[in-house]
Amino acid sequence: MRRKILALNQFKQQYGGIFLINGLLIKHKYCNIIANNIVKQQGKKGYIMLAQRLSYIKPSPTIAVTTKALELKRTGKDIITLGAGEPDFNTPDHIIEAAYKAMKDGKTRYTASAGLPEFREAVCEKLQRDNGLTYTPEQIHVGVGGKQIIFNAFLATINAGDEVVIPAPYWVSYSDIVSLFQGVPVIINGDPNNQFKITAGQLRAAITPKTKWLVLCNPSNPTGGGYTKEDLQAMGKVLEEFPNVHILSDEIYEFLVYDDFKFTAFASANPQLFDRTLTLNGLSKAYCMTGWRVGYGAGHKKLISAMNMVQSQSCTHTSTISQWAGVAALNGDHSFIAKHNARFAARRDICFDALNAMPGVSVNKPVGAFYVYPSVAGLMGKRADGQVIKNDEDLVNYFLTTANVAVVHGEAFGLSPFFRISYATSEELLHESMRRIAGAIGALQ
Ligand SMILES: Cc1ncc(COP(=O)(O)O)c(C=O)c1O
Repeated sequence: MRRKILALNQFKQQYGGIFLINGLLIKHKYCNIIANNIVKQQGKKGYIMLAQRLSYIKPSPTIAVTTKALELKRTGKDIITLGAGEPDFNTPDHIIEAAYKAMKDGKTRYTASAGLPEFREAVCEKLQRDNGLTYTPEQIHVGVGGKQIIFNAFLATINAGDEVVIPAPYWVSYSDIVSLFQGVPVIINGDPNNQFKITAGQLRAAITPKTKWLVLCNPSNPTGGGYTKEDLQAMGKVLEEFPNVHILSDEIYEFLVYDDFKFTAFASANPQLFDRTLTLNGLSKAYCMTGWRVGYGAGHKKLISAMNMVQSQSCTHTSTISQWAGVAALNGDHSFIAKHNARFAARRDICFDALNAMPGVSVNKPVGAFYVYPSVAGLMGKRADGQVIKNDEDLVNYFLTTANVAVVHGEAFGLSPFFRISYATSEELLHESMRRIAGAIGALQ
């Protein structure tokens, strides 16, 4: 027992596991569980001494949901998975052919850690063409997907105790990557009635002398909300007052926008913050290339060369073949995106209409990405087979076991009570899953 208390105290001192949420210090829910596990494992024969830093993070909840759903599928259950954030469309043929040609031409060797020069040039052209941003290839870092860009940037810049402002709900990996490097995620809640966007005033209140980064995801995973040029400029004005704060602008859903929403890159809206902005983008979503693992960051040369150094001592670079495919993706035909977007918008509407017709559920129409994030406040406290639904995690477990539909609970994204649906799946499956969820909700008492 004494050993356990000592280990827990030591754990808290060393790992912190602390989050700053709307000004309140709270302990990460998983910290004690992990600390207890460390204690249980110690002294056991064959115990593997894992690094302390592993205890700062948890497995991705979106991947966990997908894994659980796959396990249930294997037992013969007819599960519909709306958990994963990836398009169901195949990578366009011209991109696949470019990869094949690259291999046939012997372009299968190492390249620079920063990325293939031809790909970095294509990225510069893209940023000029679509966003009016002028970069040189030395300002571009190519990573193993967009996630690696965040990882490399934070590894290169975050010291223990540095704060990173993250609007909630947020994409699950931001806060964990910050915590991995002993940074402190400072969470500010977006307004559900305004597409979950944060205001300039909230941003100003969250910044302290320790703030190193603001992370903005536009359009947002998990809400599909989008910041307008004016929203971004209002935030830019605040950031002008804080010259030590960097901005990570995650624009990976840039092309997946609907209705009349007009995407603006953060650095285009705020040219005065160009040097402090790391623009993150990649091929996973719009080009249907999740498995190819290509993402890129554009920013200040000093930051980019630090990220290059980090990468040179880890994965070296992402696949050369994938980068040649990326050249074809960025320079080639983009007409497939409009076709995909028409399908995505129709799928969004299927979810939007069905969810708003369910008692206790409400959702605003998202303008981008391929997610909806409905509120389920009206379902909290209801009973299913005598069990009280206390939170959004109980609710999604109930959906999975009763309706055979896998979705991700809002707590995983830092804002409850909500859940996330990824509608990047067929119209038939979406209709069927909405029917099942409505049935499960109808059975609640
Ligand atoms: C907001 C956001 N940023 C970055 C990524 C990383 O994508 P990838 O590493 O597949 O390029 C994702 C993937 O889900 C995402 O949703």
